[in-house]
Amino acid sequence: MSDTILSGHNLTKEFITRGDGAFSASKNRFRAVDDVSFDVQAGRTLAIVGESGCGKSTTARLASKLLDMTSGTLRFEGEDVTIAGAKELARFRSNVQVVFQDPFSSLNPRHTVERIISAPLDYQGIKVPRGRAALVRELLERVGLNPDHSQRYPGQFSGGQAQRIGIARALAVKPKLVVCDEAVSALDVSVQAIVINLLRDLQADLGLSYIFIAHDLAVVRQIADRVAVMSQGKLVEQGDRDEIFTNPQHEYTKTLLAAVPRINPEWERARAARMAEGTHPDQDVTPRARATTDDGGQA
Ligand SMILES: Nc1ncnc2c1ncn2[C@@H]1O[C@H](COP(=O)(O)OP(=O)(O)O)[C@@H](O)[C@H]1O
Ligand SMILES: [Mg+2]
Repeated sequence: MSDTILSGHNLTKEFITRGDGAFSASKNRFRAVDDVSFDVQAGRTLAIVGESGCGKSTTARLASKLLDMTSGTLRFEGEDVTIAGAKELARFRSNVQVVFQDPFSSLNPRHTVERIISAPLDYQGIKVPRGRAALVRELLERVGLNPDHSQRYPGQFSGGQAQRIGIARALAVKPKLVVCDEAVSALDVSVQAIVINLLRDLQADLGLSYIFIAHDLAVVRQIADRVAVMSQGKLVEQGDRDEIFTNPQHEYTKTLLAAVPRINPEWERARAARMAEGTHPDQDVTPRARATTDDGGQA
């Protein structure tokens, strides 16, 4: 049994929206996240999946305290951080970092990679005795980029490389948990696989925990230990990855799985059988799912 690093209990977020018509005075409450509970185990990956608009990003923002919840409780390493003072919040931020979907819009195009990656250190007031240039070089190497490129600008990198910069920035403050909100969704399939491998290597080397948010189950299958399925603001089902993929209980999960050609419970069982008998489990992969180009980490 591993320890729980982050737990959310009955997390709820209501947005106040304007009623019908631009000039309407009436207001509606809209529950984007409704009574969501989850545990993230230390060193493991909890994936949250569901269709666009089901509340995944709102859950990610509640879990990382980028957004205040309407009700519920958030605990980090057993400590209640639901309402955190400035000092607690700073500590939380150095432990929990976020990687967003669109690498280019989340990186300031006018700042050098060195400035981007070291920005979280400024927010946290963290001093780097050996100098930030050295730290940035180390981080660039860690994410598979050329350390000599620290004075370049985001526009000089490919999408996959830009996302590596986003990951390096998240790692600068040495977090224990990284929330990846559709972090590979904007990338080509082949590049997605490469970035997922990087995330897995970082997890193995640094003992990181992840909340990995995606609408694509084929992506989730490559990284999740546990999977939580979300629909219309609620978690409808959660379980270990293999349980969810081979034996989904909830109708909504079955529909989601059936919509992905390669993730059909029948096929998953056949895949498990092939693995058991030692045949290559992915002999059924479609050409599109195979890596055709390399991201080329070293531009
Ligand atoms: N700041 C906001 N104000 C009002 N509604 C919002 C806000 N942010 C998100 N929503 C709504 O909450 C729902 C869930 O959004 P989101 O969490 O972004 O879903 P997902 O990430 O699964 O696509 C959507 O209907 C969205 O329009
Ligand atoms: Mg989203």
